[in-house]
Amino acid sequence: MKDPAKFTAEAIERLRHDVPAKTVIAASGGIDSTVAAVLAERALGDRAKALFVDTGLLRQGEVERVGAHFRASGLRFEVLPAADRFLHALDGISDPEEKRRRIGTTFIRLFEEEADRFGTDRLIQGTIAPDWIESGGQLRDTIKTHHNVGGVPADSRLVLVEPLRDLYKDEVRALAQHLGVPSPERQPFPGPGLAVRVSGVVTAERVALARVANAVVEEEIDRAVAAGRLARPWQYFAVLLSGRTVGVTGDNRAYGQAVSVRVVESLDAMTATAMAVPPDVLRTIAERITRVLGSQVTRVLYDVTDKPPATIEWE
Ligand code: XMP
Repeated sequence: MKDPAKFTAEAIERLRHDVPAKTVIAASGGIDSTVAAVLAERALGDRAKALFVDTGLLRQGEVERVGAHFRASGLRFEVLPAADRFLHALDGISDPEEKRRRIGTTFIRLFEEEADRFGTDRLIQGTIAPDWIESGGQLRDTIKTHHNVGGVPADSRLVLVEPLRDLYKDEVRALAQHLGVPSPERQPFPGPGLAVRVSGVVTAERVALARVANAVVEEEIDRAVAAGRLARPWQYFAVLLSGRTVGVTGDNRAYGQAVSVRVVESLDAMTATAMAVPPDVLRTIAERITRVLGSQVTRVLYDVTDKPPATIEWE
């Protein structure tokens, strides 16, 4: 990227060209879509409408946090409650790519309806380069269909506008700083949300377990970072694994599920390194998760795999 000021001026000009009338904006609360939304509002004013979808697959406290983040970024936005629709679309599905496709399609159908209501066929997304490169744009194999790329059905009337599609994460962060979007060091959260952190079938109950485990990981890692015991990771989260594992609570056998903890450092998500989290921090995470979730989670694992050969997310 050239300098952020120059990029901003050119992006605003391009947006005015690509959006002749009105547009809706898919604002997930992540840094990418927030930056795209701020650029769009600067370019188009109230001809651009930012929409935040509550998929029911979000982290603990996320709706409130994202709302505060948008307000601090000066964004006007609307929240669309859609948890039932997403859970219904995922009913019985365990294949990761199928999950991603269904989530993508559900997003697009929602945006089509909202675009209709607002009187436009344009949709602005915060797609960045690694999203489409890893979705098969450049590599021979599709590694993962990112929800904001692969999920667009061929029959959609929506015309996508993607002002950040040639940027990498570190460039988006520089742009965020330039635009006054706060906390540019926020960890990325994938569009498919907890659905790709619940390995296997996605139910409201399994999502709730993953959400609680994830909150524990975030709290304990934040604490370790604040105490200077760990550099701030690129991402840190919990994954609820498929399959079950034997445990014991008191005198009773328990047959629960397992949670994997992932803490990685990275520059641009194209590669990543599993971090050396202090053992006592991991132990505290395991104790808290198994205590809070009782016999439902009987084992906590730490994922020591780099990317490659693994990816950052499990699915
Ligand atoms: P992977 O798992 O492919 O992830 O190593 C690379 C980065 O992308 C994030 N990610 C996504 N972000 N939609 C997104 O907006 C998606 O479908 C998606 N899948 C993965 C992941 O969290 C990591 O930062």
